[in-house]
Amino acid sequence: MYPHANVIDLGIGDTTQPLITIVTSSMVDFVHGLSTATGYKGYGPEQGEKLLMGPNLKIAVQDPSFPAYIDSSVIIGQAAKFVDKAGKYKNIEYMTCGPQSDFFPDLPTISRTEPIFFNSPNNPTGHAATRKQLEQLVDFAKVNGSIIIFDSAYSAYVTDDSPKSIYETPGAREVAIEVSSFSKFAGFTGVRLGWTVVLEEILYSNGFPVVLDFNRIMCTCFNGASNITQAGGLGSCYHYVSFKLVPRFISKYCEIMFWRISQAMQSLVDHYMENARILVGALTSLVWW
Ligand SMILES: Cc1ncc(COP(=O)(O)O)c(C=O)c1O
Repeated sequence: MYPHANVIDLGIGDTTQPLITIVTSSMVDFVHGLSTATGYKGYGPEQGEKLLMGPNLKIAVQDPSFPAYIDSSVIIGQAAKFVDKAGKYKNIEYMTCGPQSDFFPDLPTISRTEPIFFNSPNNPTGHAATRKQLEQLVDFAKVNGSIIIFDSAYSAYVTDDSPKSIYETPGAREVAIEVSSFSKFAGFTGVRLGWTVVLEEILYSNGFPVVLDFNRIMCTCFNGASNITQAGGLGSCYHYVSFKLVPRFISKYCEIMFWRISQAMQSLVDHYMENARILVGALTSLVWW
């Protein structure tokens, strides 16, 4: 119908705005330090961002969801057969999250899986799960003995009272691992940095702490993000966090500096929110039903 139209893939994309200067200057300072006796650093804390999954697990994902959850399951041989007619993999539980169910799965119809991937705010729908919805999800995981892999990559884009972290939900500490990223709020798609929270409270059914396994896998397979990248990450948030924690001890100068950093970060988020508003406006103006 529109043979010359440019089709934009909204599933996986890139950020477009430049990094804020505190990030790049933190990395530059760190790099110069590496050439000095006091500033040199080798291996750091190794823990990084891979997920604990054996080959025979069935996973659950929101439908629609960020494609990497399914694609990575396929790559590690976990998804089983692709059923052409359904357009789905046999060993993946697709949890429909459309407008008819307030973008949340109808949990009583979902079969038990070991991990449940849950992304909020969700890519691509943009829906941020409410407190009540996350309480239901945590209860569901508890009853089924599942682990929620909660992806909060877009938490900086929450504009209402919805939780920014799964740990705002009572009981989540025993059933949820949270993964997140500097990509969406600080433009790190090229610099590369993220984090995973695995609490000691999460246990396998035999009582063994999941974090010990996680640590072992990370130290063996990953060894952690580059320390230069970490310096950039600290630049973008450490000052802000310490400002929040110890406001009494900081000077007016620091206060202004921290405020500027948080404003610069916020303006990145505002820019992408404006893009989203433009897209929503354009799409809803099209009449296709
Ligand atoms: C929901 C979600 N999680 C995770 C990521 C991955 O972010 P990164 O690998 O850049 O940290 C993306 C990227 O688009 C995403 O949309």
